[in-house]
Amino acid sequence: WFFQLGSVSPLLVQANHTSALGHIENVNFTMSPTSMSMGCHVEGSSVSAFWYSLFDNGTNYCNLHNVITGSGLSKVSGFEEFTNEWFCLGIGASSC
Ligand SMILES: *[C@@H]1O[C@H](CO)[C@@H](O)[C@H](O)[C@H]1NC(C)=O
Ligand SMILES: *[C@@H]1O[C@H](CO)[C@@H](O)[C@H](O)[C@H]1NC(C)=O
Ligand SMILES: *[C@@H]1O[C@H](CO)[C@@H](O)[C@H](O)[C@H]1NC(C)=O
Repeated sequence: WFFQLGSVSPLLVQANHTSALGHIENVNFTMSPTSMSMGCHVEGSSVSAFWYSLFDNGTNYCNLHNVITGSGLSKVSGFEEFTNEWFCLGIGASSC
């Protein structure tokens, strides 16, 4: 699998992720200020081109999760991840 980086600005990073099966998912990371000083809020969104990917076993979740862990961001002190099955259907079945 690989990511193709699209437009990058200080507030929005866009990319496409292509899976081993050749499925393409559209991925965004949106940065926004927080009320916490020295804090940073990043919202990740990954959407498949195929409707049946609703039952994707966490593929879209892993697209985002792997970038965050791969970049080392998840090891930074104070790091918190917030998601659940409602935001991210299939997360319970994911194994990234
Ligand atoms: C992602 O793929 C879509 C559909 O193929 C294309 O329109 C879009 O430009 C691509 N974006 C990036 C960041 O490559
Ligand atoms: C990413 O952001 C673009 C521009 O705001 C939007 O059109 C697209 O639907 C977003 N994609 C995802 C996966 O949220
Ligand atoms: C999700 O997992 C189930 C059970 O292993 C499998 O039948 C299904 O094809 C998987 N879906 C995808 C999109 O990989």
